[in-house]
Amino acid sequence: MERICQVADLFPGRGRFVVVGDHELAVFLIDGEVHVIENACPHMGGNLSAGQVHRGAVTCPQHNWPFDLATGRCPDSPDVTVRRFDAEIRSGVVFACLDEQPQGETQ
Ligand code: FES
Repeated sequence: MERICQVADLFPGRGRFVVVGDHELAVFLIDGEVHVIENACPHMGGNLSAGQVHRGAVTCPQHNWPFDLATGRCPDSPDVTVRRFDAEIRSGVVFACLDEQPQGETQ
């Protein structure tokens, strides 16, 4: 797992843009759980870290496609997913597995 950021850098219910190596990430703290997804929207590259969060989903600020933060899926189009990464909090620091296979993708 790679270090992503401090939990103290996150605002509950809002996204934060973080760059780790080659990864541009959107990090969210929702009800005490951390979610890490690729920042670029799979539609046209919108900045998901700037999206509104509601009921565990972030809405892309470009064209309002929602993405479930737990699965990466777009509820309106389940075949469309944003890459998400397993993440956890340890001693106030967010860690995520950035090199594993993409999750939430259909086969
Ligand atoms: S770029 Fe995200 S919905 Fe279009």
